[in-house]
Amino acid sequence: MEFLSILYSLIIYGLLAVVALLLILVLFILITTSPYPIVERFKEEEYYYDPVSKQKMKFPSVETPYSVNLSVIVPAYNEEERLTPMLDEALDFLENRVKEHPSYKYEIIVVSDGSKDNTVELVQSYVQKYSSEKLRCLDLMKNRGKGGAVRLGVQSARGAAILFADADGASKFEDLTKLELALKNITKLDPISQSPEINDKLAVIIGSRAHLEKDSLVQRSIFRNILMYGFHFLVWLFTVKGIKDTQCGFKLFTRKTAQITFQSLHVNRWAFDVELLYIAQQLRIPIVEVPITWTEIDGSKITPVISWIQMGCDLAMIWIKYTIRAWKIKYETN
Ligand SMILES: *[C@@H]1O[C@H](CO)[C@@H](O)[C@H](O)[C@H]1NC(C)=O
Ligand SMILES: *[C@@H]1O[C@H](CO)[C@@H](O)[C@H](O)[C@H]1NC(C)=O
Repeated sequence: MEFLSILYSLIIYGLLAVVALLLILVLFILITTSPYPIVERFKEEEYYYDPVSKQKMKFPSVETPYSVNLSVIVPAYNEEERLTPMLDEALDFLENRVKEHPSYKYEIIVVSDGSKDNTVELVQSYVQKYSSEKLRCLDLMKNRGKGGAVRLGVQSARGAAILFADADGASKFEDLTKLELALKNITKLDPISQSPEINDKLAVIIGSRAHLEKDSLVQRSIFRNILMYGFHFLVWLFTVKGIKDTQCGFKLFTRKTAQITFQSLHVNRWAFDVELLYIAQQLRIPIVEVPITWTEIDGSKITPVISWIQMGCDLAMIWIKYTIRAWKIKYETN
């Protein structure tokens, strides 16, 4: 009897202590977290170099009206090797489109995320060739993480539609057509010719590798497969439900959708995709997944175990912070 009552009191005090600790943790997060993202952008990062006038020009803001049909944002950290084929493929595709539709205007913004190699010089050589009307380099002084880099690129974009594409060229650029078809399907508007209308629509079209999963399951080690399923499970548990591939680096936004979703993006690292989709789902913005071609390219920046743990923590953080309302989603229509 004596023993049992001691045990019960221990359990009760233990539970109370856990609850108190949780409350303190929640309070601590609430006090130390700002509900909306605080975006750091250095003065130098507001400019791009124009080789014709040999001057630094100011990037416009995504909050201003669009002035080209499509912006392509390419986050790049030490990508001097993989970027050349990717840019060649993208420019080839886009130049062909201009031949077909002479009034079509595009821009590519390569965001060098504090690269230490020759990424910036490489991009500048393309700018020389194609002009800063079509290609710009946003040279970040400090590494932000992929989400931070994409965000600053989007903030500098002029497009009525905004695509972000990985620098490694793992996706085929011509698959943009597939994303545009899906956008056309849900908006009943043509993303190539009806930019003024597309600009204001709400939709996210994301490339997806889910259809390739069966094949890659066999090729990958058991360990990596377990990690992959673990990640899918955490995404499903904590954040977005009903999306098979949240991480594919090929996503198309209308300008308005990009304005709305990126202004509430808090995560700067790999899990930023998940938060973007979470924000879109919370705001009931339609998300369409489109199967695309994918080639695994060597030189992945994801260091297996550490990146996975970070992503897991980021996912849990997204869930906790939104649940206790330490993070909030802005929704302003201007
Ligand atoms: C177009 O959208 C409908 C639902 O609105 C869907 O059933 C159909 O599969 C879509 N077609 C394409 C080509 O995406
Ligand atoms: C590109 O954007 C312009 C300006 O809004 C628009 O008039 C045009 O239809 C769009 N598409 C093409 C192919 O020019």
